[in-house]
Amino acid sequence: MREISNGVDSSESEDNLRRAEIMLASLGMVLEDLRKFGLVLDIGARGCEVEKAARSVKINSVVSVDRSFPKSIIDSGMKVIQSDAKNLDLEDNKVDLALVRASAYFYTQTEEETWAILNNINRILKKDGEQRIYPARFGHIVNGILKEINSGRSEESWIEGLSDMDPKDTNFYNNLANIRSVEFLEQRGIFVKKREGITLNANLNFKEYLAVPKF
Ligand SMILES: C[S@@+](CC[C@H](N)C(=O)[O-])C[C@H]1O[C@@H](n2cnc3c(N)ncnc32)[C@H](O)[C@@H]1O
Repeated sequence: MREISNGVDSSESEDNLRRAEIMLASLGMVLEDLRKFGLVLDIGARGCEVEKAARSVKINSVVSVDRSFPKSIIDSGMKVIQSDAKNLDLEDNKVDLALVRASAYFYTQTEEETWAILNNINRILKKDGEQRIYPARFGHIVNGILKEINSGRSEESWIEGLSDMDPKDTNFYNNLANIRSVEFLEQRGIFVKKREGITLNANLNFKEYLAVPKF
């Protein structure tokens, strides 16, 4: 049964809550964990599931950020920050936790781009702040691995090659991407932990996230 209260469809908010719980689990968290922070940025929030779920249990610490929100969010009147993670124009030392799930780092093409995002998010973190990144890799590292695997092949045959890949090889390359992403940080003197998320969704392809304390 679909109940409507104050214009909010309760089955919709239950779906939202479930999606938010799965998102947070991949970052090693449950919804209640958000209550202990003053300011949490959900970067690349798109549908703002985490902020909506948090508000539904009176946790008001989450602010959604995205370089391009869907029209439904803009029209909803939610107070969001529309900005690229590279140039987030917030004061230094303001943020307790930055969640970056399947967003900014996932799409980086170059080392410089990854580095620019890392530094900008780091700048706005408080002294004991942390960024959590899921999946545990950077786009530019994945790009580099794909180039190595496919050197000498045309771009069309790359795609074929990827879909034909033995699952054992896919696993190997996924792990390699995670290991090289950790190395990328460690080579720059950045301390990082690679951890497994809380398994709420066994179908998730990627199990690990990165926890990067302010450096
Ligand atoms: C696949 S959605 C992820 C949505 C949600 N975080 C999740 O985990 O399902 C990726 C979102 O990241 C945003 N995004 C990608 N790169 C970004 C960047 N550099 N800065 C801010 N947002 C970015 C996109 O606009 C998009 O809305």
